[in-house]
Amino acid sequence: MWPGVFLVFEGIDGTGKSTQIRLLDERLQAAGETPVLSREPTGGAWGQRIRESATAGRMTPADELQAFIHDRTEHLRGLIMPSLAAGRIVILDRYFYSTIAYQGTRPGGDTVAVRQTMESLFPPPDLVLWLDLDPAQALRRITAHRGEVPNEFERQEGLESAREVFRSLAGDRFRRIDAASDERAVADAVWHEALPVIQAKRLLRAARLNP
Ligand code: TYD
Repeated sequence: MWPGVFLVFEGIDGTGKSTQIRLLDERLQAAGETPVLSREPTGGAWGQRIRESATAGRMTPADELQAFIHDRTEHLRGLIMPSLAAGRIVILDRYFYSTIAYQGTRPGGDTVAVRQTMESLFPPPDLVLWLDLDPAQALRRITAHRGEVPNEFERQEGLESAREVFRSLAGDRFRRIDAASDERAVADAVWHEALPVIQAKRLLRAARLNP
């Protein structure tokens, strides 16, 4: 598929994705890797429009789904695929599973249809690290630690449904990590899941280079 390693963090807001991405990045850098870190929505034109809508008023469900598709298409073409082709480890803060979990559960949404659309348009990553936490606790973290008011994407009912969708996606390449424990323990759990996947890819690559 690609010589690089494609890792994705998913989970509702307040589960510690950005902290865990930073800790994984540090560990990988200590091991001599130079991971490419990125996030969705991106900082590009479509991503900016999406972020604005979280405070200025949501788009219609159809427009919002399209905006995420445009943003992701550009992200894959401009950064993700070239980095993977160059053999880099790519770590994303959210990917198409968030579209299934959030857009799929908007009123009138259809998680099965959104999932089919996502899987037909976008390549699955090598590993998804799903940071799982009770929505009430996640919201407390958002308000207490960050001093933020939850935005339109972050109402508790929405977070409950998003969590259920993540739960339904769990499997071989989509690993649940208990995000309720302390930061170091979560980082260890992430490392425990990510390392074998990275090593397998690296071994495979070495074997291809030196047959
Ligand atoms: P988030 O990572 O929370 O950005 P920030 O830290 O700047 O608030 O992402 C913004 C919101 O976008 C988040 O609440 C979930 C939502 N989202 C979707 O609804 N669908 C998607 O496909 C993605 C990637 C994000």
